[in-house]
Amino acid sequence: MNAITRLATAVSLASLFPLTALAADSKGTVEVVHWWTSGGEAAAVKVLRELVEKDGYTWKDSAVAGGAGSAAMTVLKTRVVSGNPPGAAQIKGPDLQEWGALDLLAPLDDVAKANNWDGLLSKTVANTMKYDGHYVAVPVNIHRVNWLWINPAVFKKAGIDKAPTTLDELYAAGDKLKAAGFTPLAHGGQPWQDSTVFEGLVLGIMGAEGYHKAFVENDEATLTSPKMTEVFTALKKLSTYMDDNRAGRDWNLATAEVIDGKAGMQIMGDWAKSEWTAAGKVAGKDYQCVPMPGTAGSYTYNIDSMAMFKLKNEGDIAAQHDLARIALEPEFQYVFNQNKGSIPVRSDLDMSKFDSCAQASMKDFQAADKAGKLEPSMAHSMATNLAVQGAIFDVVTNFMADKNADPSKAGAQMAAAIKSAQ
Ligand code: GAL
Repeated sequence: MNAITRLATAVSLASLFPLTALAADSKGTVEVVHWWTSGGEAAAVKVLRELVEKDGYTWKDSAVAGGAGSAAMTVLKTRVVSGNPPGAAQIKGPDLQEWGALDLLAPLDDVAKANNWDGLLSKTVANTMKYDGHYVAVPVNIHRVNWLWINPAVFKKAGIDKAPTTLDELYAAGDKLKAAGFTPLAHGGQPWQDSTVFEGLVLGIMGAEGYHKAFVENDEATLTSPKMTEVFTALKKLSTYMDDNRAGRDWNLATAEVIDGKAGMQIMGDWAKSEWTAAGKVAGKDYQCVPMPGTAGSYTYNIDSMAMFKLKNEGDIAAQHDLARIALEPEFQYVFNQNKGSIPVRSDLDMSKFDSCAQASMKDFQAADKAGKLEPSMAHSMATNLAVQGAIFDVVTNFMADKNADPSKAGAQMAAAIKSAQ
């Protein structure tokens, strides 16, 4: 059974007619399911809430903690299956197609037309937001995933004078940090975090083309190639620079270790920057952002978007449309993205208002787009459906948990796991 059929079966067990929530006031309510609960993320989502409230609508916050959103997605499915969908939910990438196929998402074409979304968004972004040619979600940002975050004061104490650009330099920095008593690579032990590191290695070792074949096409020859053995060998090596007690640790706690000077580096998407910003730290001075070693010139993107569910109450529908309209307004795009660590999803804004990491991200996004090196993040649900992603996560996390795991066997395990998830 494929992912769409599985979701459809679950949903068909329940009424497809949502219980229309009674709006708390006459203007309408939008309930928003999202997973932005870290300090920096909460500061970012507050910007959206305040703008919706300023327009006289009620924001019902349904945050579900858990990085990368798998807990939020479970809650969302349960809500929908019981006939009680929220007005809006953070749904991303190919998953939008699956929800769209169930005919549960409200088209946003009127808002899109009135606000020129087709003119403002790049084709890559606009196509991701459309189901069957209709907008069913509004994008809020673009995150880059293949970043390495560095605390330069810690590097200095460990005698490292430059940011690593290759894997060998990364290992050398790791050795020096370890010798100086620091955790070289801060990391939380959760499957999506493991796969964030893994996909960075695939990009670095196999290039954008190999990455695409592995994660977008799920090409068996690529998944079982000697290059994939090289990737797993590197993953094993990188794990030796992570703290052994990391099981279950949230990503923002790992970021805090780098901010607090206990660890030297973290491989993480630029939502990590939201924590540095919330801690009052300045890009280029208190911390450095560089492409994950080996991946300069390539860009793994992760677009956050809000999908709207079909509702009946006119006021609540108006609240959904208001949220969708606000999300692409310059006022929101500037402040939200400065807090979130991401870059604006429209390309006509003044990037001089952003810090050096965001400026580099925008430049690299545009260059990678031109060079055909813009790739959707697998770990952040942009490359495959969630069933295939789950299969990859399991293989990667089991591999990292088993010190005796054989790198030359992991690719074949992954290919088999993907096949049975398809
Ligand atoms: C990503 C999401 C980001 C950030 C991160 C950590 O998947 O796109 O916005 O929230 O997870 O939770």
